[in-house]
Amino acid sequence: MTIRMSDISKAVLATEYAVRGAIVARAGELEKQGRKIIYCNIGNPQSLGQAPLTWVRQLLALCEYPALMESAPGAFPSDAIETARAILAGTQHGLGAYSESRGVRSIREAVAEFILERDHIGVDPDAIFLTDGASKGVQTALRILISGPGDGIMIPIPQYPLYSASITLYRGRMVPYFLDEADGWKVSRPMLEDSLAKAKAEGTHVKAICVINPGNPTGAVLDEATIAMIIDFAQAHGLSILADEVYQENIYRAGDAFVSFARVLHEREVKDVSLFSFHSCSKGLLGECGHRGGYFEFRNVPDDVAGHILKLQSIALCANLAGQVAVHAMVCAPKPGMPSYALYTAEKRAILDTLKQRATLLVDGLNRIPGITCNTITGAMYAFPRITLPPGRTDSDYAMALLEQTGICVVPGSGFGQMEGTAHFRTTILPPTDQIQKVVEAMGEFHRTFR
Ligand SMILES: Cc1ncc(COP(=O)(O)O)c(C=O)c1O
Repeated sequence: MTIRMSDISKAVLATEYAVRGAIVARAGELEKQGRKIIYCNIGNPQSLGQAPLTWVRQLLALCEYPALMESAPGAFPSDAIETARAILAGTQHGLGAYSESRGVRSIREAVAEFILERDHIGVDPDAIFLTDGASKGVQTALRILISGPGDGIMIPIPQYPLYSASITLYRGRMVPYFLDEADGWKVSRPMLEDSLAKAKAEGTHVKAICVINPGNPTGAVLDEATIAMIIDFAQAHGLSILADEVYQENIYRAGDAFVSFARVLHEREVKDVSLFSFHSCSKGLLGECGHRGGYFEFRNVPDDVAGHILKLQSIALCANLAGQVAVHAMVCAPKPGMPSYALYTAEKRAILDTLKQRATLLVDGLNRIPGITCNTITGAMYAFPRITLPPGRTDSDYAMALLEQTGICVVPGSGFGQMEGTAHFRTTILPPTDQIQKVVEAMGEFHRTFR
């Protein structure tokens, strides 16, 4: 007898993941029928034409096939060859062998150096784990924290559905805290206290708070005072913090800067709040989603708990080695004076300028459509506009009809969570600049006629 639905884990059945849900499945069908689809549903930059950074691909090529160093020496700059040699020496056996479970030590040391340079704080390379994308790291932290069905994890609403899906999968409880749309999607202490008090009143044992900075899907960037406020809140209530910082390079508004939770925790000398920080090769400048590179770093985690994190990571042996090389490339960018510096800097500028330009075009265009309002995108890669709907229609109806009518694939706001009585959708800012204009026009036309 084959496996039946009744055999499947109830937690798997209960788990939902909107970013690749029914609307995306329908987009695939339409595409097979020959329709042109613009995929604005997922932050997958290279699928929408973003070119990979030369530096990253050179290191990957040389590490995957070291014979290129001899057979095509003139094709690669000397700094890429030297760096690839150093990475390979660190792996000992090349990319075809498992590494130690935490990841290649020399790459973790490079990550530690990157954090030291970014935040001026010391890092223990053994508190850094290289992972298959940030997703796996987030799942490890949630896995460790959720010990039973009464355990709750605070997540922002709207949130990135990795969190809701994984918490459901591990049989924990989501404890939503709302971001204030009217105030640029800011988070406030009263809203955090309110959410925690409600969860406690329902008998939930709240273990941690997740923060996404810069925000997906909101595009908001947290300032230092807000980060300090969240750390104080976590300290007051004995919570761990999961800081999802995968968009730390994607900041567009002059005057805004990325501030890491690790730096603020260190500067405030907080020793009794455990922090897990996540970073990824999928976003930022690299957009190397397919290479599945990422890492997490933890602080204030006792050795016995750290041992179980290592055990969990060991079950899957190690993160993929190409992804580990991509992490190295991300954290060790060419420095002034190196042969690759000029090209790297030009490519970096072009990517960031284009994303910034698209963010502005998209938001301005959306705000010109009567019935749609959208906050400024100050970071990340998404807009989360609010839409007015005709009575009786849902945001899922809206997103499906938008797809059928225009070929534009977005995700309904309900997939991320939203304040009751409001409706949204999420779109990326990633389509090429000339397409963004068309996307906005098509959205406007659609919105005017949607019944
Ligand atoms: C907030 C956030 N965290 C984590 C991830 C997962 O990234 P990765 O590809 O590194 O697993 C994403 C991907 O879109 C994201 O938006």
